[in-house]
Amino acid sequence: MVPAKGGGLLQLFQHAHHRVEGHLIDFREELERGRPGAELLAHAATDLNQHMFVEEKFLFPLLSEKLAAVVAGLQDEHGRVWDLMGELRELLRRDAGRETLQAGTARLMGALTAHNTAEDLGVYPDLLALLGPSRAQALLMEVERVEVPRGWMCAARAWPTRVLPGAEAGFPLRRDE
Ligand SMILES: [Fe+2]
Ligand SMILES: [Fe+2]
Repeated sequence: MVPAKGGGLLQLFQHAHHRVEGHLIDFREELERGRPGAELLAHAATDLNQHMFVEEKFLFPLLSEKLAAVVAGLQDEHGRVWDLMGELRELLRRDAGRETLQAGTARLMGALTAHNTAEDLGVYPDLLALLGPSRAQALLMEVERVEVPRGWMCAARAWPTRVLPGAEAGFPLRRDE
């Protein structure tokens, strides 16, 4: 069934936010029970990676002419979220203590929630107005088929960040040396 007025595209983006946030909420609850929940965090990272890729490939270019400064800010926020996800996964890999993991989770969730809210309220509504229903529907079909290229990095971290050996799910760690 074709969603009315191209709203399926917005739903897809909003559901991605809820899905990633849901994984992180579950991960946080597992931590509270004393369990690490590596699989939950991996799911969150994979879904987040996919969502950021779709936004940077399809959404941001459409909005950048009208909302250049806003899009630049959102791309910077992707970089911040990217870093925090990488840091949390590394903390988990190193078996950091529960409080350290909880603090890392809180940092990531705080940055992600603020970013998602900014998109939900600030740019997603403009997308439908910009595209109109039929183009929105066409974009939805394209977005649903897309796969994240192996090794893809968000624009804010694509250069000069180096990929560490063994980095997973497209979330390389940064190092300064
Ligand atoms: Fe985003
Ligand atoms: Fe988003």
